[in-house]
Amino acid sequence: MFWRTLTAGALLGQYASAQNMLRFGCSQLTIERADPLVSPGQNPSPHTHQIIGGNSFNLTMEPVQYDLPSMSTCTTCTYSEDFSNYWTASLYFKSPENGTFQRVPQFANFGIQQDGGMTVYYMPYSAKNGKMTAFKPGFRMIAGDPLNKKNQYKPSICHRCLGNGEGFAPCDAKDSAELPTKYCPGGIRATVIFPSCWDGKNLDSPDHKTHVAYSNGGGLGSPNCPATHPVAIPQVMYEIMWDTGRYKDTTWYGNGKQPFVYSFGDAIGNGQHGDYVFGWKDDSLQKAMDALPTGRCANANCSVLKIQSAADAMKCKKSQQVVEDVGKAGEWLSQLPGGVAVTY
Ligand SMILES: *[C@@H]1O[C@H](CO)[C@@H](O)[C@H](O)[C@H]1NC(C)=O
Ligand SMILES: *[C@@H]1O[C@H](CO)[C@@H](O)[C@H](O)[C@H]1NC(C)=O
Ligand SMILES: *[C@@H]1O[C@H](CO)[C@@H](O)[C@H](O)[C@H]1NC(C)=O
Repeated sequence: MFWRTLTAGALLGQYASAQNMLRFGCSQLTIERADPLVSPGQNPSPHTHQIIGGNSFNLTMEPVQYDLPSMSTCTTCTYSEDFSNYWTASLYFKSPENGTFQRVPQFANFGIQQDGGMTVYYMPYSAKNGKMTAFKPGFRMIAGDPLNKKNQYKPSICHRCLGNGEGFAPCDAKDSAELPTKYCPGGIRATVIFPSCWDGKNLDSPDHKTHVAYSNGGGLGSPNCPATHPVAIPQVMYEIMWDTGRYKDTTWYGNGKQPFVYSFGDAIGNGQHGDYVFGWKDDSLQKAMDALPTGRCANANCSVLKIQSAADAMKCKKSQQVVEDVGKAGEWLSQLPGGVAVTY
């Protein structure tokens, strides 16, 4: 869903004007049990991730010294200077009949040509006088918490049941922190909204979170970053479209149950989380952010950035470094990769 065009009017009450942003597709790079941010060097890491962006993605990506733009030879993203890596958990269907698992396929977002992966946004909601500070080399962060068992992440981490009278703006009142417990004929859209304010000093923090902050307690930002984190940064957001509509048996849904489970074992879904490692070439992201208010830069057509064709973006792939079967199309697995236990 391209919520901004649909809701230009609805959002005006909350935001002073319809602001330009980047919105572009990044196709799948690889799917594997790797996590250079939370478990660097670990082979395999505990659970499966679906990863997009530059092909220098690696099990270990030492901040600053591992220079993504010079190590990469291609990216799965529309903007060919964006060698960042973005990843989230994968989603599996667990058969209520026999307990076997199938990796849920993804589909392309509205108006975007892509092969799996995600839609990535860079949004200016915390900008003051139109100005934001782009991330520095070595910058990384996490949104959401895999151990979350409360409803608390709804403003930043949410799920939308598509084809069932959905809402408009990301993580609005019609979305849920949990995976929807009804059948969603149009699939499920998972949204991960990152913080939009930075402490101005640290490229990372031990929990990969405390160097950044939300300006509104979560969700989409506003131009009032807290004094502890005064620097307005681009607000990164992921949208992941899960093709859950193909799992149609209505007895699998309702009364608080649904048949999907994230690769880290979460069958509630509010532990959904996203990881970000900055890797734009030189000052390309800063140039794009500076150009947003001029109208010369928006969505997937930013005139100050280099754009590659969807076909070229889809050609960029990386073979697994952690070689194992994480679930091919239509395949049934006896367990989640890594034998991860399902928790409710
Ligand atoms: C990934 O890391 C391994 C060592 O862990 C190294 O041999 C390899 O060259 C790295 N790949 C890239 C693209 O840097
Ligand atoms: C397990 O159940 C699913 C449907 O829930 C079915 O499609 C699949 O064929 C079943 N597998 C086996 C081995 O019975
Ligand atoms: C992209 O922007 C340019 C002008 O900056 C315009 O000529 C072109 O039609 C736009 N393309 C799309 C697909 O919107």
